[in-house]
Amino acid sequence: MIFITRREHFNAAHRLFREDFSDAKNLEIFGKCSNPNWHGHNYELFVTVCGAVNPQTGFVIDLKVLGEIITEHIIEKLDHKNINLEVDFMQGKLASAENIAIGIWNQLQPVIAEHEGTLYCVKLCETENNYVEYYGEK
Ligand code: NI
Repeated sequence: MIFITRREHFNAAHRLFREDFSDAKNLEIFGKCSNPNWHGHNYELFVTVCGAVNPQTGFVIDLKVLGEIITEHIIEKLDHKNINLEVDFMQGKLASAENIAIGIWNQLQPVIAEHEGTLYCVKLCETENNYVEYYGEK
């Protein structure tokens, strides 16, 4: 078993809040990310695929193909967008790094399953100091 990772990035706006909380309560729970006027992050995304090396190509998955899959299904939907308002797979969800990573997994998993290799991990860095990793439902 070998693991291969493709890095991509996108810039997007979000707000962490619950409509049933006041702005003060949202600030208490969600901190600066609750700013009612939105704010952005430079997200870094690491998509890891695992599998066996194809002896004919030496690849687990063609990284060019993986890059194209991520661009089409993730980056074009998220880059320079408002995650709360504009991203179809995030509608009705809190736009936390955790939920974004799960949403990205759910978009990518069935597409990667059509190719060589298996999606192993979606790692999403929201800031230099904070990142989440999702390995699917275990
Ligand atoms: Ni934020």
